[in-house]
Amino acid sequence: MRTNTTVLPSVDEIARRTADLMVERATKAIAQRGVFTLVLSGGSTPKKLYELLASDEYRPQINWRAVHFFMGDERFVPHDDERSNQRLADEYLLRYIPYDMNKVHKVPVSLDSASAAAIAYEHDIRSFFVSTGNTELSFDMILLGLGSDGHTASLFPNKPAAEEAERLVVASEPGVLPPPVNRITFTFPLINSAKSIVFMAAGADKAEAFRAVQNDLDKQIDKAAVPASRVQPIKGELYWLVDSTLANVESVK
Ligand code: 6PG
Repeated sequence: MRTNTTVLPSVDEIARRTADLMVERATKAIAQRGVFTLVLSGGSTPKKLYELLASDEYRPQINWRAVHFFMGDERFVPHDDERSNQRLADEYLLRYIPYDMNKVHKVPVSLDSASAAAIAYEHDIRSFFVSTGNTELSFDMILLGLGSDGHTASLFPNKPAAEEAERLVVASEPGVLPPPVNRITFTFPLINSAKSIVFMAAGADKAEAFRAVQNDLDKQIDKAAVPASRVQPIKGELYWLVDSTLANVESVK
């Protein structure tokens, strides 16, 4: 695992660095394989990134029709609910870019339960990779955030979903942070199979969680209590893009 940690002045700079990484990897993947598989993150931090990708400056830099979009985790609410991560992606990114509707893999939150949605979403993911001739279930890029409690995606501390070692997608009961709704989430086996993983995190409230993660990674602890520490790509790259308030140091560009 190659870990790259960069401290940047602001969320805007985190968004710009992430967008540049995405352009570079999408261009290469599409040239080589004709497809780029992108896993979006929820929460508020990615908003700046999605707005930047939708901008006149960045929108033309990616062949969006070759991108398959997935959601790393989702709240078990309708897609038009203000808590929906899909709605966030729709409103801040997808509505502005020329994407292929058949390549947006939404979590089926209309099913009877989060468990049923997780099973169906895992089937969608497996079927997609089989359809592209890939036996290796490896996303090109996964975007992740960090909660102040150290969670990532919807893998919360001391909850069963964070301990899942076989399944790719599971239902997750709410953690301590809002919103208190059931979730559907990628598991660590699926996350850690990615070619590139980018954490975007900002804000002093996450400083303690970030320090714990860095400590766990430095000591190569694989079963850490802090869920975000367990993001350790098997063969891929790991980027931590954080702001100076979170890292509690001067930014080092
Ligand atoms: C979610 C996200 C979650 C998020 C972190 C950070 O569904 O809420 O996937 O994992 O990335 O909670 O959220 P902020 O970016 O809002 O701080």
